[in-house]
Amino acid sequence: MHTIVLATQKGGSGKSTLAIGLARAAVDAGHTVRLIETDQQGTLSNWHARRNQAEPRVDTVYAAGDIAERLARLADEGVTLAIVDTAGGVGAATSAAIRSADLCLIPARPSIVDIEATAVTLAEVRRADRPFAFVLNQTPIRGQRLTGAAATLGEGALDIPDAVAQPFIVMRNDHQDALSAGLAVGEFAPSGKSAAEIRGLWSWIETRLGITAAMVPDNLTELPFATMPAVQPSADIFRFA
Ligand SMILES: Nc1ncnc2c1ncn2[C@@H]1O[C@H](COP(=O)(O)OP(=O)(O)OP(=O)(O)O)[C@@H](O)[C@H]1O
Ligand SMILES: [Mg+2]
Repeated sequence: MHTIVLATQKGGSGKSTLAIGLARAAVDAGHTVRLIETDQQGTLSNWHARRNQAEPRVDTVYAAGDIAERLARLADEGVTLAIVDTAGGVGAATSAAIRSADLCLIPARPSIVDIEATAVTLAEVRRADRPFAFVLNQTPIRGQRLTGAAATLGEGALDIPDAVAQPFIVMRNDHQDALSAGLAVGEFAPSGKSAAEIRGLWSWIETRLGITAAMVPDNLTELPFATMPAVQPSADIFRFA
């Protein structure tokens, strides 16, 4: 089983939205998926309650000491992918989840405030010595703010390749409307650009994890995704990381 953890101290950056979208994309790619919610805010549980189908299931695990054990049990039960959605901030449960991660995803909106806020989470991920990638979320389709953010995040993690996941996830109403309807974006608007971006992100994650997908969606290459631009890096905001 592989474990992906969505973590960043900044609220509203898209941890829960991406967890849900990626869960559905991974199901479509043939994985047996379980969402784990460590955030007592309950975004995933509330979403699941609005849903009319059980999969992907959501388990709540609030105690830091229970996370590793729960993940081990899920692996025994045949779950092939656990996606852990954590609370904003860096609490005990988030730290425990990070220690169990095969890949930590750190979502950030392309603003200096969000990018600065990733430093605390990045420091925690590095203390745990876990693989990680930033996910630029709620982005414009293009523009200097986006290219600058991607460059700054890439600069902050010079010791790893692929520090910024691809593609970027553009800000679109589909994400919010999907969650309102108890759906993942890939269910809400399967042929839309947001769904395609999330499938593309899942494909990137599979490659990064070295997973051979059971099934590969046939429409991944339909859209020209935003890609990592070649621009000059900006401020040294990772000095605390
Ligand atoms: N790419 C996107 N486009 C449009 N809206 C988005 C996108 N990603 C997230 N959102 C919206 O932004 C808001 C915050 O997202 P979300 O709840 O996933 O963030 P979070 O990091 O889990 O926040 P918290 O730290 O409070 O748990 C939600 O209303 C969500 O629907
Ligand atoms: Mg959340």
